[in-house]
Amino acid sequence: MTGFGRDVLVTGAAGFIGSHLVDSLLARRVNVIGLDNLSSGKEEFLKEALLNDRFQFHRLDLTEDDLSDILKGVDAVFHLAANPDVRSGALDTRSHFDQNILATYRLLEACREAKTPRFIFASTSTVYGEVDIMPTPEDYGPLLPISMYGASKLACEALVSAYSHQYGMRSVMFRFANVVGPRSTHNVLHDFVHKLRQDPKRLEILGAEPGTSKSYIHVSDTVNGILVGAEKASDMVEVFNIGSRDWTFVKDIADIVVGKMGLQGTEFRWTGGVNGGGWVGDVRKMLLSTKKLEKLGWAPDLTSSEAVELATMDILSE
Ligand SMILES: NC(=O)c1ccc[n+]([C@@H]2O[C@H](COP(=O)([O-])OP(=O)(O)OC[C@H]3O[C@@H](n4cnc5c(N)ncnc54)[C@H](O)[C@@H]3O)[C@@H](O)[C@H]2O)c1
Repeated sequence: MTGFGRDVLVTGAAGFIGSHLVDSLLARRVNVIGLDNLSSGKEEFLKEALLNDRFQFHRLDLTEDDLSDILKGVDAVFHLAANPDVRSGALDTRSHFDQNILATYRLLEACREAKTPRFIFASTSTVYGEVDIMPTPEDYGPLLPISMYGASKLACEALVSAYSHQYGMRSVMFRFANVVGPRSTHNVLHDFVHKLRQDPKRLEILGAEPGTSKSYIHVSDTVNGILVGAEKASDMVEVFNIGSRDWTFVKDIADIVVGKMGLQGTEFRWTGGVNGGGWVGDVRKMLLSTKKLEKLGWAPDLTSSEAVELATMDILSE
C-alpha cells in the first residue's frame, strides 16, 4: 500500500505527463481510474495501461460531466487535466478560466461530496511570475503571475488549499518547470523540429538572443517527484517545486536540436520577442529550488540540457 492509498483517479490521464503517471502507478500495483476528455490527450498513450486489469478509462469532461460515480471509493485524486498552453492565454482568456479554474472547482466539489481523502495537483512554475530570487523556493512571494495560464493555476492552488483546510482533504501541489520527454505534443522542441524539417537552412526563434533561460525537466524525473511527494508529504497542504538544478537558454536548445538533426550552417533568426521573453506572458528566467523535495529523497537524474537532448531524440525517432 502506498502513502496515498490503493485506488486513485488520474485526470488528464491520456495527456503527456498523465499517461506516464498512469504507467508508473500501475507498475506500483495501484488501481487506477483514468479520466480524460481527449481534447489534447490521445488514447494511444494509454496503450499499455489499457491492457492492465487494474486500469479503467473514462472519457469525461471535467467542466460539464457528473463526477460523483467515478469518485466512489477513490483514495486519492491526481489532477493533471488542464489547458497547459501558456501562449494561447493572451488571445483566449476564457479557456484557462474554464479548463483550469472551473474544471478544478467542479472536481474539488465532487471530491468534497465523495469525502476523497487526498488531492494531488499539477501546478506550474508560472505561478511565480518574474522573480528576484533564484533558485526560487516554494515560500517565495508575492506570487504575481504574468500569464493567464499562471493566474489560473494560482487560483486553482488557492481553491485546493481552501478545500483542504475547510473539508479535511490533505493535498499536495507540484509546481513543475518545463517538462519534456516522450508523448509531449507541444513545446519549443516540437516547434524547432517542425520548422527545421520545413527549412533546414533557417530557424526563426521567438525572442532576442540568447532567449529565455529556464529549467527543463524530463518526464521520468517529474513522475518520480510526484510519487515521492505524494507519498511522503506530511502537512495538510504541501507545495513542492519539481525542476532540474540548472537552466538552459533557448539558444542552447536550438543548437541541440540542430546538432541532433545533423544540420550544419543553419541561420538563427531571432524575432525580438516581447519584454525579453518570447511572447506576451513568457517568463524570462525560471529556476526552481528543489531542496524541499530532495529532503524527502527525490533528485533529478538529468540536467536541463540532458533532458532536452533526450527529448529531442525521442521527437526525431517518432
Ligand atoms: N508540460 C509541462 O511542461 C507542464 C509544466 C507545468 C505544469 N504542467 C501541468 O501538468 C499537467 C499535465 O500537462 P501536460 O503537459 O501533460 O498536458 P497535456 O495537454 O498533454 O495533458 C492534459 C490532459 O488533460 C485533458 N483535458 C483537458 N481539459 C480537460 C477537461 N475539461 N476534462 C477532462 N480532460 C481534460 C487533455 O485531453 C489532456 O489529455 C497540466 O495540469 C499542466 O498545466 C505541465
